Amino acid sequence: MDLPPFELERWLDEYEPNADLMLAESGVRSLPADRFDLDVGELGYVIPTDGDPQFRADIAERYDRSADEVVLTCGTQEADFLTFMALLEEGDHAVVVSPTYQSLKSVPESVGSVTEVRTEPPAWDLSVDAVADAMRAETRLVVLTNPSNPTGKYLGPETMRALYDLAADNDAYLLVDEVYRMLADDPHPPAAALGPRAISAAGVSKSYGLAGARLGWVVAHPELADEVRKWKDYTTISPPMLGQHIAKQALGEQEDEILRENRAHAKANRDRVAEFVDDYDLDWFEPVGVNAFPTVPEGFDSGKEFCRSVYDAESVTLAPGEVFGYPDRFRLGFGLHTEELEDGLERIGRHIDAVRGE
Ligand SMILES: Cc1ncc(COP(=O)(O)O)c(C=O)c1O
Repeated sequence: MDLPPFELERWLDEYEPNADLMLAESGVRSLPADRFDLDVGELGYVIPTDGDPQFRADIAERYDRSADEVVLTCGTQEADFLTFMALLEEGDHAVVVSPTYQSLKSVPESVGSVTEVRTEPPAWDLSVDAVADAMRAETRLVVLTNPSNPTGKYLGPETMRALYDLAADNDAYLLVDEVYRMLADDPHPPAAALGPRAISAAGVSKSYGLAGARLGWVVAHPELADEVRKWKDYTTISPPMLGQHIAKQALGEQEDEILRENRAHAKANRDRVAEFVDDYDLDWFEPVGVNAFPTVPEGFDSGKEFCRSVYDAESVTLAPGEVFGYPDRFRLGFGLHTEELEDGLERIGRHIDAVRGE
């Protein structure tokens, strides 16, 4: 495997640690640990190492699947990674819908080859025909995030059914990273409920505000889930004991309250971002989730130039569109606390005004 640097992570490494405000985080603001019972008794491995069977059964029910089709992982990142390892060999091919979170493209590309199917503004619609055109005899996987990071586009059930049929008809799989799905007000059925050739990867980081719990999962048909388990033995062995304990509460007795709060928070902040993009004449797509992907304001040449100058002048971190392959855009994560968002938008606005001489 020859993995390229993870461009977003490298960017954040440089521009996040000393910034006053972070408007490049893709998830909803983190919940305090004291909201949960944290007493797990002894801090050992989770046994069995693919996760508590009852918890896996509870998660499986959400996908119309059974407990043996669920493997708990250290976050969605590991869920995606293990799925690629389980499915792909040298010579295999994947079709990846872009823009996307880099690992969903870089990891399959490092094992086999990838054809990117780009979606475009303003609506970021996905052409199923374009995906069909990109398929080859050796295509094993069609990969996407839904809702998308970074665009916030949420593809509906008809498109997902068409993608599933296309993958299944070609003896391929559909892998959907659904880590932002529960931020939708009325989430569509998850991908894995479409049938045995669909795989869902998800976790509690982004929609629940629990990135530090490091708890994710893969839902896949039993033989594929076994292959994922096999790979997991070589990475993190078991999911985190504490993360599993917190996730049980977040998906259990606390779920309604957490999702109600997080969706209301996302909506309030989205409305505030809508005012900002309107005030500064930016083009954007009103997203599901807490990521906006607007155009770079007039007066700046590229995403990187804009984000660097906002950082230098106002100590606010943004993510440039270049790291997603769209240099005329930037990603603004608006899941943070509303007062911080207000402060950040005010600073960004002040800087744009200053550069424009207004
Ligand atoms: C689409 C997508 N998948 C996975 C991750 C990582 O999630 P986790 O913290 O659950 O590993 C991210 C983080 O930004 C993401 O955007």
